[in-house]
Amino acid sequence: MNYGWYPGHMTKAVRMMKEEISLVDLVVELLDARAPLSSRNPDIDELGRNKYRLVILNKSDLSDKSATDMWKAYFKEKNIPVLTMDARNRGMVKAVDNIVKEVCKEKIERDRKRGIKNRPIRAMVCGIPNVGKSTFINSFVGKTTAKTGNKPGVTKGKQWIRLSDSIELLDTPGILWPKFEDQSVGLRLAILGTINDNILDTGELAIKLIDYLKERYPGVLNSRYSIEEDAPSVKVLESIAVNRKALKKGEEPDIDKGAFYLIDDFRAGRLGNISLEKPE
Ligand code: G4P
Repeated sequence: MNYGWYPGHMTKAVRMMKEEISLVDLVVELLDARAPLSSRNPDIDELGRNKYRLVILNKSDLSDKSATDMWKAYFKEKNIPVLTMDARNRGMVKAVDNIVKEVCKEKIERDRKRGIKNRPIRAMVCGIPNVGKSTFINSFVGKTTAKTGNKPGVTKGKQWIRLSDSIELLDTPGILWPKFEDQSVGLRLAILGTINDNILDTGELAIKLIDYLKERYPGVLNSRYSIEEDAPSVKVLESIAVNRKALKKGEEPDIDKGAFYLIDDFRAGRLGNISLEKPE
């Protein structure tokens, strides 16, 4: 499998993002709670230098809670404020508001001392594709929010969405491209669906996922598909295909379809709450 590429148009996107980041006080970095390190682009440290930072472990409804707790501790230890979230949940405004006020309290205090009142914190959401950026932004639009319109100094067409009295959010997210030298990172991103399926061999991906599940989440495959999961992973995949009635002519298991079902079940959380990595 060839995991490593960095499309040319991203160079332009990164340039635009630099301009946009210069407009904000706070960079909100969305990571996938199931693989926070693999879904992190380290360039954000450079891009978000001198800005307040907040990490959101999104899709935590799908992650393994004990792994997510470890990740929360991991980021806290690095002095990076962190919040877990299901971005589809529109009830998160208050939690986001509270943590942003906490993260930016120095600035709020500085403004207050200077007699500046009601100047909202300006924030921007960043993350790799499919991590939930649009869902996050949309969850705040139309609820307690109203677009505040263009203001001087803002790139044409950009809108600020008012999240609360104290926060405004840029309506377009910053898209970071996943970055990896390491094949295991590419593999996790492929399993999460960050990387386009067409360029990867689904059967191979499914075998890797089966290897991982057998080792880290024993019993999960057995309970979902009523199969003997201690067999070699290729055999397990065949059994999954049979269980899902994915058969070719002659009743032979259709490995590709079985692989598709398995990966789809994983992504939709039908195998249960599973994380692909834990802090070292
Ligand atoms: P992006 O802008 O970062 O590219 O991601 P986007 O918001 O489009 O979200 C990608 C997919 O992830 C969407 O599913 C979205 O519903 C789902 N999603 C986002 N946040 C969460 C979360 O916290 N938990 C769960 N379980 N799912 C989340 P989709 O299948 O592409 O679209 P749809 O069928 O849900 O509309």
